Amino acid sequence: MSDNAPATAPVARPKTTGLHTGDAAPGCAKVDPIIVADGVTRSFGGITAVDVDHLEIPRGAITALIGPNGAGKTTLFNLLTGFDKPNEGTWSFDGRSLSGVPAHRVARMGLVRTFQLTKALGLLTVMDNMKLGQKGQVGERFWSSLIPALWRAQDTGIEDRALELLRKFKLDAKKDDFAASLSGGQRKLLEMARALMTEPTLVMLDEPMAGVNPALTQSLLEHILDLKDEGMTVLFVEHDMHMVRHIADWVVVMAEGRVVAEGAPDDVMRDPAVVDAYLGAHQELDLGVVTGRIPVVDADPTTDAAASAAVAETDLTAEGLAEADEEDRA
Ligand SMILES: Nc1ncnc2c1ncn2[C@@H]1O[C@H](COP(=O)(O)OP(=O)(O)OP(=O)(O)O)[C@@H](O)[C@H]1O
Ligand SMILES: [Mg+2]
Repeated sequence: MSDNAPATAPVARPKTTGLHTGDAAPGCAKVDPIIVADGVTRSFGGITAVDVDHLEIPRGAITALIGPNGAGKTTLFNLLTGFDKPNEGTWSFDGRSLSGVPAHRVARMGLVRTFQLTKALGLLTVMDNMKLGQKGQVGERFWSSLIPALWRAQDTGIEDRALELLRKFKLDAKKDDFAASLSGGQRKLLEMARALMTEPTLVMLDEPMAGVNPALTQSLLEHILDLKDEGMTVLFVEHDMHMVRHIADWVVVMAEGRVVAEGAPDDVMRDPAVVDAYLGAHQELDLGVVTGRIPVVDADPTTDAAASAAVAETDLTAEGLAEADEEDRA
């Protein structure tokens, strides 16, 4: 571990290339796809949030999923990870169909995700949040089986792994603190660390940089690059085009539910269809949002620990576990 390594400028790591076959066009085949989706649609009332004809995500690479607000990126994440059900469509992960597989089983199969609004549980300690990660995806039905007393007696292997990850993400000194006391950026780190508890093969990150203090962004970038170096596949949603350009090997662009472009980062950013996708959906924006000049994350509630804790509590309420927390909040 490089905890005490001298603070040298990070070395640019090589991009992974040769990921696709044929032209880099929407739905193009990948040499070694880890996710293959076909005809996946999801509508809410009259809005078609996702309408993906065909999509392949390359294994062993970092793929960025970009597109304007409301393009359907998070909805697609929800579908692929079993947090939502499509109207139609099939998709597979590592050659196994995931249609109808619930989120916690998806996690055990090696596919984990983080949330745009962090789901770190403010009223649990950092360590307990990590232990929850071992159980699978957070935000699912079997919350009621996750009472701390039930896992307290479990083997120390879980705690060792949690500590190792917390050390890597420089959160070990905070292991006994409530997650609510962490900054927005530290919560993002905790969520990523927690996702790694199940030793996934594919990690999906929904806006990992949103609300993160600039002081932490470089280390977050390095952590994401580390995931690839450790053999994992990464799919992340991001609005910051500097970051996309810097770490993505491949970029998939969504607009109005569809995949409108795919390719290597530099090619995609130059693609007029991509510029149109942003401008078409958001006439009020200039190209700053494409180039990363516009701070799209200013209003993200994850920058505010209290607001973020409230989000987590809302989830708990939905899962019927919130009563116990009410007193603590008062
Ligand atoms: N649970 C829901 N109920 C109703 N409409 C929804 C729901 N979830 C998403 N939508 C709608 O689906 C569309 C896609 O939303 P989604 O959150 O997937 O976009 P996104 O690309 O993640 O946007 P952002 O960049 O702002 O996070 C939007 O029009 C949104 O309002
Ligand atoms: Mg989203």
